Amino acid sequence: MSVMRSMLLAASQNAWLRDRAGKYRFVRRTVSRFMPGESLDEALAAALILRGKKIGAMFTHLGENVKDQSEARQVVDHYIAALNQIQQHGLPAEISLKLTQLGLDLSPELCYENLQRILESGTKEATIWLDMESSAYTDATLALYERALRSGYNIGVCLQAYLRRTKDDLDRLLTLPASIRLVKGAYKEPPKLAFPRKQDVDESFFALAQEMLRAKAQGQCIRAAFGTHDLVLIRRISDFAANENVAKADLEVQMLYGIQREDQERLANEGWRSNVLIVYGTYWYAWFVRRLAERPANLWFILRNVFAG
Ligand code: FDA
Repeated sequence: MSVMRSMLLAASQNAWLRDRAGKYRFVRRTVSRFMPGESLDEALAAALILRGKKIGAMFTHLGENVKDQSEARQVVDHYIAALNQIQQHGLPAEISLKLTQLGLDLSPELCYENLQRILESGTKEATIWLDMESSAYTDATLALYERALRSGYNIGVCLQAYLRRTKDDLDRLLTLPASIRLVKGAYKEPPKLAFPRKQDVDESFFALAQEMLRAKAQGQCIRAAFGTHDLVLIRRISDFAANENVAKADLEVQMLYGIQREDQERLANEGWRSNVLIVYGTYWYAWFVRRLAERPANLWFILRNVFAG
């Protein structure tokens, strides 16, 4: 892992920086590249524009690791209201959430009850996605995912290609079958658990993607989604899908709002399923600094905004 990436991942956990970052106009201006605004209304407006381009949307209300039950309840109430708004607007939008927002640190049982309230408010067609957090939460997240899936809910989970364990997790989930979003992984993990070299992560991603697409073709994967902006990897995966006769609508690429916009549109126009994750809310600091860690060149973008006044 590069020194810059390590420093930025450490900064993403720094409370002093978090409390000050939002006070600076150049920081707010840079953040606006990655999120349309702090409110749900702004996220909905962005999703309406994406719908016009045949791109679906997923919403995440930013926040992680709630400290008490009432905080978790507020998150649940917010997501239920968001699902109602999505339905009222007739949007092809879904939500993607972190279990630590629903009280996973407090108690897995409480977390499951909270998750169930959200799942009950969703529609049958729209998948509720679970993000994957650091490796300390992988077992608990997968256990709650499998429980919800076996109860018949339309739910998907994120798996991280950088983790050495993911091949086993995928093999097991595909027997259910499951809806899976594969990503490279955004947290700081020890080499014992995660491939340290980018090249190995990319190869792991491609191998897992092939397994998902083969399963999809055999009806053993409900949704095969790839959360990446890596255009070389996307090309390799789509070539593989074409060779295996996977229908274009069955291969789904998910990207973050504001990144590779032209390619999001290109993929949708070519017939692949293209989805964009829109984050909103006031707790953007840790999320935003993790995005910088993914691409330290974004720091230049911040500097340009400093000098723009
Ligand atoms: P990679 O980092 O190799 O980037 C490939 C290219 O994409 C770069 O060269 C650059 O051009 C562009 N790019 C990538 N990141 C950029 C950025 N921040 N700004 C500008 N350009 C950028 N992780 C996790 O651990 N748990 C999760 O639940 C999720 N959920 C999730 C959902 C969705 C929809 C996406 C797209 C991503 C996630 N992630 C995630 C994040 C994921 O693990 C990973 O950190 C990022 O997607 C960056 O990796 P790439 O696959 O884009 O490749």
